[in-house]
Parts: sequence; C-alpha cells; structure tokens
Amino acid sequence: MIVIKTPNEIEKIRQAGKVVHLCLKSMGESIVPEQSTTNDLESVAMDIITTSSGESAFLGYAPYGYSPYPAWTCVSVNEEVVHGIPGKRVLHEGDLVSCDVGVILNGFYADAAWTFPVGDVSEADARLLKCGQEALMKAIEFAKAGGRLGDVCHAVEKHAMRYGYTVVRELVGHGVGKSLHEEPPIPNYGKPGMGPTLREGMTLAIEPMINEGHSAVEALEDGWTIVTRDRKRSVHFEHTIAVTRNGPRILTEGE
Ligand code: MF3
Ligand code: CO
Repeated sequence: MIVIKTPNEIEKIRQAGKVVHLCLKSMGESIVPEQSTTNDLESVAMDIITTSSGESAFLGYAPYGYSPYPAWTCVSVNEEVVHGIPGKRVLHEGDLVSCDVGVILNGFYADAAWTFPVGDVSEADARLLKCGQEALMKAIEFAKAGGRLGDVCHAVEKHAMRYGYTVVRELVGHGVGKSLHEEPPIPNYGKPGMGPTLREGMTLAIEPMINEGHSAVEALEDGWTIVTRDRKRSVHFEHTIAVTRNGPRILTEGE
C-alpha cells in the first residue's frame, strides 16, 4: 500500500528535507582535495543534524540479513555506487564522491543524495555527473498526479542510454515519509504507462544510480558498500519529492 500524506504531513517531510539539503550542501562545500576524508564529510552532516534536533535515518538501519548500518550518512567514492561507510579514505583531485543523507525530524523522513566532483575532474566524469543530474530532474518531471510510476522509472534509463551509460538494476528508489523505505519500489528503468497511478499526496525518493560501464554491481566484504563489478565509476542523485496538485514538488532542496 502506498501511504498518502496530507499537506500538513508533506510540510513536515519538507522540514526534514531542509536539513538533508543543508547537510549535502555543506558536505560538498567542505571538500578539500588531498585533505578531506569521507569521515570528515560524515562529521559535517552529524553536526548539522544534531543542531537541527534531527536524527539520522540510516544509523542502525538493519534490513533483514544485514548488520546495522554503522554511520549517519553514506559516502561512496568513484566505483562505489552507494552505501559507502565513511572512514579514513582521503579524497583526491579528480574523484567523484556521492553523499547520501536521510534525516528524521519530528517523526518524518526525508532522503537525498548528490555526487560531487573533487576539485577538477576529467571531461568524461563531468559528463557522467551531468547525465546523473539531468536524469533525476527528468524523472521528477513525470511525477505528477494521474501519471504512472513506470513513466518516472523509464525516464531515468532512457536518459542514461542516450549518453551510453547504464543504470543499476539491483537497487531502487522508494516511497518515503513516515518511514525511510515505503511502497512503492522505484527502479531506474521501467515501462511507460505501466505501474501504479501517481496520486496527490504520494512522497517518493527518486534516485538514479548511473554507471559509466556495465550495470552489474556487487557488495564489498563490509557487507554494505556497493561497487560496480567492472570498477568503473558511478554517480547517484536523489531527491524526496511530493506529488501535489501543482505538479511535483522537491522537498530536499534549498528555498
Ligand atoms: N538513501 C539510501 C536508501 O534509500 C540509503 C539507505 S541505506 C542505509 O536506500 F543503510 F544507509 F540506511
Ligand atoms: Co533513498
């Protein structure tokens, strides 16, 4: 069942979303090539979430068969797709670093991610970043009442294919708001005109994961970090959005 939120509940998700946005913005701005570690980015987010009286939606998260997630955020570098555990890894000029933040505020959840260039990146990597951002925005445009979820999903893969990239198929976006992961799953591929009809009050985390090379991914020994099998680079862009009578509304951006 897809949980429909009232305008008042959407406002609360928006408040959580503002904290998420601030975390991502500050994490991105804090990056110093050859100096910052992934743990430094985690600390930036921890400070902001704590000051905002929020909580991490990720810390201790334990789907069946997984050990509890040990950090507040996910920080994934280059061939790491998602769920990288912040640690001592130093960020180097030319790296791509994906930051993923989920916040609980007053009982409501928001979730977003952004991939940042570390210093100057190659033209190839700049193109991959551009594709990822565009894919997210194109998918969001289809998140309108009366449309179908398959339209949103299809938009992501279509855009990736246009660039010659692939989408990750094993991991999906999701409903979000009263908990981190709600119905429906939102794959980064799909059939236009298929899937659930989108209704006013649905809140969705749409999260393209786009690979430069093949789509296959695997988990590292730590049980969490997902990497591309070919170890080529991947980017991740995510927003929490609400389907409203005025069209899609992004809940995890600035003013
Ligand atoms: N944004 C990711 C998701 O929606 C991160 C959650 S995994 C966690 O699935 F373990 F870090 F919580
Ligand atoms: Co998510």
